[in-house]
Order: sequence, then C-alpha cells, then structure tokens
Amino acid sequence: MTKEKTPTPKKPQLLITGGAGYIGSHMCVESLQAGYDVVVLDNLSNSSPKSLAAVERITQKQLTFIEGDIRDDAKLKEVFSKHQFDAVVHFAGLKAVGESNSEPLKYYDNNVHGTLRLLEAMAEHDVKTLVFSSSATVYGMPEQMPIREDFPTGAINPYGKTKLNVEVILQDLYASDPSWRIGMLRYFNPVGAHASGEIGEDPSDIPNNLMPYVSQVAVGRLKELSIFGNDYDTHDGTGVRDYIHVVDLVQGHLKALEFLATKPQLSVHNLGTGTGYSVLDIVQAFEKASGTPIPYKMAPRREGDAAKSYADPAKAKNELGWTAQYDLERMCADVWRWQSQHPNGYSE
Ligand code: NAD
Ligand code: UFG
Repeated sequence: MTKEKTPTPKKPQLLITGGAGYIGSHMCVESLQAGYDVVVLDNLSNSSPKSLAAVERITQKQLTFIEGDIRDDAKLKEVFSKHQFDAVVHFAGLKAVGESNSEPLKYYDNNVHGTLRLLEAMAEHDVKTLVFSSSATVYGMPEQMPIREDFPTGAINPYGKTKLNVEVILQDLYASDPSWRIGMLRYFNPVGAHASGEIGEDPSDIPNNLMPYVSQVAVGRLKELSIFGNDYDTHDGTGVRDYIHVVDLVQGHLKALEFLATKPQLSVHNLGTGTGYSVLDIVQAFEKASGTPIPYKMAPRREGDAAKSYADPAKAKNELGWTAQYDLERMCADVWRWQSQHPNGYSE
C-alpha cells in the first residue's frame, strides 16, 4: 500500500472512513473491483492495517491508506486538499452497545462529533455525496415485523442514539442545502467474510455479537455459547435476527452510490435479507458449516434485546435495485473459512 500517493485522475475516487474495519475492508475490496480509486482514513482504534494489505492481495490493486482520526480537522484538511473525492463512505465509528452505556461521552464524541467534523470538511471542499452507516438499532423495539423505513425511530442505548442523532443532523443538512446527495443505510446484522478467507470480523475483545462468538467457540478460543433467553415469542424461543452477508451489504453501498449519482437527495434504506433466523438456527447452521459441535447453555435474556428484528428490504430492491444474494449456509461457510484460517484474527 502506498502512503499519500497522487490519485489516478480518471477513476471515480472514494474516501472510505473506517476502511480498515470489518465492513470497511470488504467495501474496499468491492469498490476497487468495481473500478473506484480508494483512499482509507482510519485511526486503527478497532482494526489492523493487515486488513488493508489483505485487500490489496485479494484485488491485486492498490489503495491509499491514511492513518488519522475523523475528529482531527488538520488531518481532514490535508486529506481533502490532496484528493478530489467523488464521494465519502463513512464507516468510522464505535459500535459496542454495552460500552456505549458505560462511556456515552466517548460514543457521542467519536460518532456524532466525528461525523460533524467530517461533514464540515466535506462542505468546505465541495464534496457533497455521502453514504452513512446507520443501523437497524434506530428502530428501537418495533412491535411489527418486517421493519419498514417509515416505522417510528427511537434508539434505546447511547450507541443507537448516536446513529439517530447523525441521521437527524443529515436531514437538517440536506434541508439547508438540497444539493447534497446523502444515503443513510440501516444495516441489520452483518456477518460473513470475503470468500478468500483473507479478511473478516476480528473483535478486539470477547465478542458481543452472536456470529463471532459462535465462530470463536467452534475454533476453540471460547468454551461455550450462552444463549440469552429461550422464552421469547419466536419459533423456538430464542431471539430472531436478520443476518446479512457482509459482501451483500457492501454491494448495497455501491448501489446506493449509483442511486445518489442520479440526483441530489436524502434517502434511507434498510439493508437486510428480510429473513429472520433464531440463535438456535445459527448454532445449527454453523455446526453444519464447520463440522464442529457448538456447546451452548441457556442464560437469562440480555437487557435491551428485542425478540425479533428483520427487515422489509423492498425499498432497497425497488429504488437501489439491490437484493441480498447469499444465504445462511454461505454466510456460515465464509465465516468459518476466515476463522479457521485465522484463529486469532489479524494478530497472528
Ligand atoms: P469496525 O469497528 O470493524 O470498523 C470501524 C472502523 O472505524 C475501525 O477500523 C476503527 O479503527 C475506525 N474508527 C473508529 N473511530 C474512528 C475515528 N474517530 N477516526 C477514524 N477511524 C475511526 O466496525 P464495523 O462492524 O466495520 O462497522 C462499521 C460501521 O457500521 C460503524 O459505523 C458501525 O456503527 C456501523 N454498523 C455496524 C454494524 C455491525 O453489526 N457490524 C451494524 C450496524 C451498523
Ligand atoms: N446472542 C446470544 N448470545 C451471545 C450473543 C448474542 O444469545 O453471546 C443473541 C442475542 O440475544 C440476539 C442475537 O443473538 O438474540 C443477536 O445478537 P447480536 O449481539 O449478534 O446482535 P443484535 O441484534 O443484538 O445487535 C446488532 C449489533 C448492534 C446493532 C443491531 C441492529 O450488535 O450494534 O444489531 O442493527 F445495533
């Protein structure tokens, strides 16, 4: 990877904030393969530059990596002065729900203040196309399924509130200047890994999320899974979620960029498959994919968890021309390839 190289003039150029992270690194692969020139800005607070080296191996293309923080105005000025971006895809942020309860200010600073700094820099350099990583968590505890974009919002933890705050800021920004092109994408549960097994999710601590927890049990890093609640109103009593392959998810970002290119607008789309799977469904599918039993025990419900959450993906299909392609079997197979080839993630 080169540091601060001069951009190739003809290709459209993307700034990918948080591009070294789990979803961002997959976005780098698909963007490079789709013909974009890619600049990554990441402070490496939750990632390794090894992911970007792997992106270059997979694609046989180079990207530009800038180590820096989206809250650093001087760094942003330098980055935006040096490059002529066509769009920004903004993944940089903190995402641990539990930590956001104990350290809310850290979350507002990173996710809200950080996004404000980025938006200021974009406005100043007349880069007005943005795809923002929002989350299904902005729907709070919806009573009806599947979840549509016009459902009421109401996040229940500081992390979710930072996402909602940014959505509100983006609405106000667009209202003040309708020449912006802003796509807010509400992700359901991203899982999976690139088919090469070279990049994937690499939690720095004990995973909070189900899929990385299950895969670490399968590979022997963790002893057993605790299933948080088996008395929900679902087909087997365990929580139901809409798991979406990370490659499908990032393809949705490329479609959103195409959609934004058609006209200035502010849009919001769910990125999910529309199918819900329970915790036990995931355990079973992962056992099959890995050929390894996943020991588990039943545990009390986790505070703040909904019984069910799955998307109505119709708006993304109709407007973006996007639907998820990969099924649960493929999601588990790809997670297992990454995890079994890299039992300790990037830190080997
Ligand atoms: P991740 O932690 O793997 O990636 C985030 C990246 O941003 C990391 O590389 C981190 O080092 C970087 N970063 C954090 N703060 C930064 C800052 N101030 N300046 C520069 N870089 C910074 O997380 P991910 O799973 O890839 O998530 C990407 C985005 O998608 C996040 O905004 C997250 O909130 C959102 N999202 C994720 C999920 C999920 O389940 N993974 C669900 C919904 C939304
Ligand atoms: N679960 C367990 N045991 C675990 C971890 C999870 O039983 O060790 C269960 C949960 O109770 C839930 C399901 O597995 O029923 C999925 O839990 P995750 O933590 O993987 O995902 P969530 O849906 O709770 O949360 C995720 C992201 C949030 C995001 C939300 C909505 O972590 O950041 O999706 O997009 F806000």
